[in-house]
Amino acid sequence: MEKIIEVKNLYKSFSVGNEEVNVLKDISLDIYKGEFVSIMGPSGCGKSTLLYLLGGLDKPTGGNIYIRNQEISRLKDREISKVRRRELGFVFQFYNLVQNLNLEDNILLPILLDGGKPKEYKEKLNEMLNIIELSHKRKALPRELSGGQQQRVAIARALINNPDLILADEPIGNLDSKTGTEIMKLFKRINKEKGVTIVNVTHSKESADYGTHIIYLKDGEILNHEKIIKDEAAFTKENKE
Ligand SMILES: Nc1ncnc2c1ncn2[C@@H]1O[C@H](COP(=O)(O)OP(=O)(O)OP(=O)(O)O)[C@@H](O)[C@H]1O
Ligand SMILES: [Mg+2]
Repeated sequence: MEKIIEVKNLYKSFSVGNEEVNVLKDISLDIYKGEFVSIMGPSGCGKSTLLYLLGGLDKPTGGNIYIRNQEISRLKDREISKVRRRELGFVFQFYNLVQNLNLEDNILLPILLDGGKPKEYKEKLNEMLNIIELSHKRKALPRELSGGQQQRVAIARALINNPDLILADEPIGNLDSKTGTEIMKLFKRINKEKGVTIVNVTHSKESADYGTHIIYLKDGEILNHEKIIKDEAAFTKENKE
């Protein structure tokens, strides 16, 4: 199986006043293509910090992160941005949509930022709108959508460039439980049907259980890994309900 992320002896500390706070301590992990990884742990244990490092949004204090054998922390900022826009998709708790752009333009934003021609993405855009079941709202502004709908737009935006990897930080943290379940099922479908690798940060066990590989973090260290082999028939049944 192809390794998509390799983390070796990763450390991250922040200086707060005169003090060094060690937030991640000697983290090593491998993520393989097609995995659905849940990163779980209590508030403050370093989940978001780890996710941001994986996505090149911040730099490690020590250790190495390889995305597809490319050491991301050694790339120049401009190159990291390119990798981020073309190979990764991010989904955050508060959706981070651009308020004055309609739904279509929000989804196409990564293309525009990369100097691409939105016209060439018409079909892809329609496919995305179908997946998130919001074709009928394509001209709506974010404020005209519910939280769950906005998060679906953020997921479509994360998928528009066909990334191999989606990094999500508490994507259902701001949603009620029914809507949260719908979003988790959408991630599961994207993982199964499109083969996109997903790394989902959560402090809910229920949400973590959508994963096939759960990483438990505590005080900046990995406590435990759990790999779950899911019954395909059960998955199909679950998704038809
Ligand atoms: N830029 C920063 N400067 C200083 N300290 C930071 C910074 N970012 C994070 N920290 C500290 O690192 C620790 C881990 O933060 P992080 O946001 O990764 O936790 P988390 O596991 O995502 O928590 P939550 O579940 O509440 O989102 C916290 O103690 C936090 O205060
Ligand atoms: Mg966090």
